[in-house]
Amino acid sequence: MKGILLAGGSGSRLYPLTMTISKQLLPVYDKPMIYYPLSTLMLFGIRDILIISTPNDTPNIEKLFGNGHIFGLNIEYCVQNEPRGIPEAFILGADFIGNDDVCLILGDNIFYMGQQLNKFREDVDKYAGQKATIFAQKVQDPQRFGVVEFDENHRVLSIEEKPANPKSDYASVGLYFYPPDVVQKARSLKPSARGELEITDLNNLYLQEKMLNVVVMPRGVAWLDAGTPDSLLDAGQFVQIIEKRQGLKISCIEEIAYRRGFMNDEQMQQYINSLKDGYYKKYLQKIYEEYHETKYTTAV
Ligand code: G1P
Repeated sequence: MKGILLAGGSGSRLYPLTMTISKQLLPVYDKPMIYYPLSTLMLFGIRDILIISTPNDTPNIEKLFGNGHIFGLNIEYCVQNEPRGIPEAFILGADFIGNDDVCLILGDNIFYMGQQLNKFREDVDKYAGQKATIFAQKVQDPQRFGVVEFDENHRVLSIEEKPANPKSDYASVGLYFYPPDVVQKARSLKPSARGELEITDLNNLYLQEKMLNVVVMPRGVAWLDAGTPDSLLDAGQFVQIIEKRQGLKISCIEEIAYRRGFMNDEQMQQYINSLKDGYYKKYLQKIYEEYHETKYTTAV
């Protein structure tokens, strides 16, 4: 499974915050926003990742992660010259995807899934190589999103992009899994009235072919999009509350890489030593010591 992180867009809803810096590099409490979607890909076990961004921002994102090897990842970069819509990611990433399944995550989508992640991974694996899997969650303001309409048997009837009169409260979240034919399907799309290729049109192609699996994210899962001033602040406060209470970080990519075995003890220790002194280094050192100890005590 390959992963694409789409960090493009003009960030117009966050202007003037986004005048000199892309939305995905803005802070969400203690980390750049892009850490959150990257960590979701990592939690799904995805290590080959293409990051697509604007000509201005790609070099800055590259400064953050480089080729990703230090975190046990392979990260490639691709520039999207104009925001021509989400499905363009598959056209730009065609060679990168090759004959693999691919997961697309939007750079401003933040997930806090806890144990549900394991169930979601099963939901995706069940149809690997065949069907697309997308996720939906109940929201108060569905008109801001792609909206999924279900019948009484939970079968999907339609998906509409930002409808004025939504047929349900279920928004389609910015995390999508597709079989390799997504490239060909993305190429067949025509721009919508706003001049962009729409992810909802792509999902509707799978729906028409009965090849779309829609999984509802239950209420225990937090899904936040940080694309407006309010939702950016909400997301920061959410992360702050959980982190302060538990003393554990959300979406700390180094911690995930270490716990998942993408980085071994030696690599983690070297990495920690290379950091400047500060709270982040202290946190990683603590994680290293605690996890290192449990790992070896359990192994004995
Ligand atoms: C995009 C998609 C929409 C989806 C949303 C999730 O909207 O077009 O279907 O519900 O992401 O964040 P946008 O962020 O472009 O407004």
